[in-house]
Amino acid sequence: MAKGKTTTFYCQGCGYESSKWMGQCPGCRGWNTFVEEPKKVNAKGRVSSGNIHMEQMKPMSISEIDLRDEDKVRTHIEEMDRVLGGGIVPGSLTLVGGDPGIGKSTLLLQVCRHLSDDNRKVLYISGEESLKQIKLRAKRIGEFKDTLQLLCETNLDTITTVIEATKPEIVIIDSIQTMYSEEVAASPGSVSQVRESTGILLKIAKGMGISIFIVGHVTKEGAVAGPRVLEHMVDTVLYFEGDRHASYRILRGVKNRFGSTNEIGVFEMQRVGLVEVKNPSEFMLNGKPEGASGSIVSCSMEGTRPILIEIQALVCQSNFGIPRRQATGTDFNRVNLLMAVLEKRMCLQMSACDAYVNIAGGMKIMEPAVDLGIAMAIVSSYKNRAIDDATVAFGEIGLSGEVRAISMVEQRVQEVKKLGFTTCIIPYSCLDMVKDVKDIKIIGVRSVQEAIDLI
Ligand code: TYD
Ligand code: MG
Repeated sequence: MAKGKTTTFYCQGCGYESSKWMGQCPGCRGWNTFVEEPKKVNAKGRVSSGNIHMEQMKPMSISEIDLRDEDKVRTHIEEMDRVLGGGIVPGSLTLVGGDPGIGKSTLLLQVCRHLSDDNRKVLYISGEESLKQIKLRAKRIGEFKDTLQLLCETNLDTITTVIEATKPEIVIIDSIQTMYSEEVAASPGSVSQVRESTGILLKIAKGMGISIFIVGHVTKEGAVAGPRVLEHMVDTVLYFEGDRHASYRILRGVKNRFGSTNEIGVFEMQRVGLVEVKNPSEFMLNGKPEGASGSIVSCSMEGTRPILIEIQALVCQSNFGIPRRQATGTDFNRVNLLMAVLEKRMCLQMSACDAYVNIAGGMKIMEPAVDLGIAMAIVSSYKNRAIDDATVAFGEIGLSGEVRAISMVEQRVQEVKKLGFTTCIIPYSCLDMVKDVKDIKIIGVRSVQEAIDLI
């Protein structure tokens, strides 16, 4: 590096540091991701990701380690607790990412409310909104206790001092893109600033045993330093996502050092803030048409929870040489593959048809277990014959048209039964798993052909 040089180049995607500009990042292979930023003034404040207590300097055996402190703090928002893996781990650093306006601040303010109701000291630090704005939002959500303290600040050195003085149990930082440390000359939101700020917060969390939630905005193409840079620094990464046009929001665990990552929490944005959706299946099936062709209910697992969804297909004669295909909420290539299977194995003239497949409600389902549902919806629309409304179908479809086994069949069938459906079409090889389930007609099928023959 040239002597006296004050700037360096950072990859916006992964934080890779280089002394010169490069077209492709050697770290993440992204193109045109390097930006020039002022160099850090000194190396002070380097973070050791682990603990900094003196007595922990010596290695320990697993049995020596005391777990008494690990009782997790419950937020009393069930959907949130589930995603966190039971509650907030003391001293953990959690990143909540999501598009602007999706409801991150609202969700965390609600978490604060529940925690302060529990008489826990909570500090909500906002760099985006004024205290008045937060109060306006809080008024919509409900009553707050005085154990919740608010602070509008973006300077992390001041924030560190305040935290050290007030010793809260839980701290919310909204958002990391607005925070800055004086040690770094770059502007807030830049890669080096975001990384440095997270480092400081990490030190506070681990050193003082305070749980910290960090809000991070995600923008397309990572125009501002996206939270991707931070993902490896924090303990837990949660993504809050949802369709702009749908009122429900999904909180998804992407990384969790304390629990499973395939759990989701479902919320609905209402006038009084986010309301938990305890039964997402009912929510997703709301407004399902009766007796319409091209519609069937299928079941997908989200973590340990089965969710029933309506799959809709519209197949019509193509007016052009190349048929149009479109998939909303599911994998486009998978739909094409299923149509090829139907064409070849069932001799349906799919290549002359346009096809549109939609998962109603705006959910995104990538699980192959809904293959059978998609195939049946397509055939139903193609033949213009409605499938019985009380029928649910799920199973993976192989290239030779066979219906293959899937996991957690019993949970799925139980959910189907709970929602009042009377017939369930499942892979033949899974029949054994559900032989104890009563009061519902279960049909095992070996191939798509068999399933179609049933309707
Ligand atoms: P917000 O939490 O500010 O989003 P983020 O912090 O992720 O940017 O939520 C903003 C949206 O939520 C806003 O468009 C209005 C809506 N909202 C409601 O519909 N009801 C409510 O009670 C609240 C507080 C917000
Ligand atoms: Mg916000």
